[in-house]
Amino acid sequence: MRLHDFALERFFARWEFTAELLLCASDVEGWPLHNLLELADEDGRRRWHELRLGYTESGGDPALRAEIAALYERVSADDVLVFSGAEEAIFALHNVLLGSGDHAVIVRPAYQSLAEVARAAGAEVSRVELREADGWRLDVSQVRAAIRPNTRLILVNEPHNPTGSLSDRATFDRLVELAAESGARLVVDEVYRFLEFDPADRLPAGADALETGVSIGVMSKSFGLAGLRIGWIATRDRELLARLAAFKDYTTICNAAPSEVLALIALRARDRVLARNRAIVEANMRLLDDFFGRWDGIFEWARPRGGSIGFPRLIGDRPIDSFAEGLVRETGVLILPGTLFADTGNHFRVGYGRTNVPTALERLERYAEKTLR
Ligand SMILES: Cc1ncc(COP(=O)(O)O)c(C=O)c1O
Repeated sequence: MRLHDFALERFFARWEFTAELLLCASDVEGWPLHNLLELADEDGRRRWHELRLGYTESGGDPALRAEIAALYERVSADDVLVFSGAEEAIFALHNVLLGSGDHAVIVRPAYQSLAEVARAAGAEVSRVELREADGWRLDVSQVRAAIRPNTRLILVNEPHNPTGSLSDRATFDRLVELAAESGARLVVDEVYRFLEFDPADRLPAGADALETGVSIGVMSKSFGLAGLRIGWIATRDRELLARLAAFKDYTTICNAAPSEVLALIALRARDRVLARNRAIVEANMRLLDDFFGRWDGIFEWARPRGGSIGFPRLIGDRPIDSFAEGLVRETGVLILPGTLFADTGNHFRVGYGRTNVPTALERLERYAEKTLR
């Protein structure tokens, strides 16, 4: 299997820990360990103190799988397989589901591995374009048009990276119907789920919507615990889950024991964890709305409906790569040029999950005053 470089991750390898302020991170501000431990119930505290650092159950700790299952309507602990981040889940899923002769339909733009691992696994991949003019919303008729007799997989990301778009319920229902009717498996990357600005907009999970549906989840984004590297696949298709478990024997075998306990603690306290994280995102979103209001005509802002990222556009002739390069060199603020998502529309990703977003935005504004007015 030959994988092309992951453009965004290579860019982060260069800048993530050298730029002073990330205005493009997709995760929510990481929880300090001591604050997370304060949320532990008695059983959680005992598990943490008595933790043995041996191998763990390869499918994931049963108590952790039960807490993950509680995020869904129709999923039980045995329908969950825990991975090292959503990234490992994607890698395993595409390798198990796809091979030469298979076809997959995947939205664009997208987190690169969602399409790249499918391609490298041997599948032909058709991309369904999301467009700024449509508010970056999914057009199900385009998905329908892309389906072929050998389409094994339809993959969407709700809420979406990098745009923060979120399908409405009627659109999602049509997608579910299309998957059921075509026999292609619906996979929903839901790593930003629970960060919908209006909770009424939350979509059903892929694993709940269809018996064969797949949900990809992670502790990194909505839960603010990227350093745990705990992700999962939830599906009621036990045969698929067994094949994924067998694949995982060749990647990580099992998860990090401390991470499993900490994820369990966080999920048991999920209301408090999510409330803190949503408050950060919502406060930053108000600042972004003000900012883009002041810069109307210079930046185009399709307001996200969920998640911790958005995809504004720099209007005019200045290429976004050069603007981003100048910004980070002069002010220490990192934005993510859309070219890293193969975007040609001069967009850039902003991330608003971090507590230093207000400072980063002030610096962006000063730089924009200097270079764009
Ligand atoms: C849509 C999407 N899926 C999966 C991932 C991978 O998540 P993790 O890095 O926590 O494994 C990301 C990370 O940015 C993402 O944005």
